[in-house]
Amino acid sequence: MPLSLEERFEKLKQIREELLHFENSPLYKYRVENKYYPVVGEGSHMAKIMFVGEAPGKNEAQTARPFCGQSGRILDEMLESIKLNRSDVYITNVVKDRPQENRDPLPEEIILYAPFLDRQIEIIQPKVIATLGRFSMGYVMNKFGLFDMLRPISEIHGKEFVASTSYGEIHIVPLYHPAVALYNGSHKTTLLQDFQVLKKYI
Ligand code: URA
Repeated sequence: MPLSLEERFEKLKQIREELLHFENSPLYKYRVENKYYPVVGEGSHMAKIMFVGEAPGKNEAQTARPFCGQSGRILDEMLESIKLNRSDVYITNVVKDRPQENRDPLPEEIILYAPFLDRQIEIIQPKVIATLGRFSMGYVMNKFGLFDMLRPISEIHGKEFVASTSYGEIHIVPLYHPAVALYNGSHKTTLLQDFQVLKKYI
């Protein structure tokens, strides 16, 4: 049974509260010392499409908003190209706190934070999960039992995979991380093409 809007709001608020006090995380001290925030997620709580990035960068940790820096501008451009607003989708990350100096998230950090993402998926019940970058692709595909189909992102970006969830069948679409498009024009073209796949789920 899908949750009501009020139930979704309350459950997502609970996640926010838990993350605010997530002292178990090795990233908690770094967050507090720098006056950063955890980045829970943003967008429609009834979204059909959920985007899952890797971890917040500095801008995100300072504002508590996912993808609000340079990568966010690319993501906005991609959304615009298929006539989607940020408010129509839900955007989050696997890891909810900023790793030091923008390093890649560690496997143990992904394991530690992933249950929050799992709960967000169960609450929002998206029809499509579009992963942004190889870390979220790896986590989400493994979570839904698609280990046999996992390949390097250069081979499976823009492809659709069917997954079974507690609330029915969904699609997983691995996409390149928007940051790759910042420095590589051909990756930007590829990302624009891959976003076209999402059109039919709008
Ligand atoms: N990169 C990510 O993976 N997530 C963000 O929120 C920002 C940059």
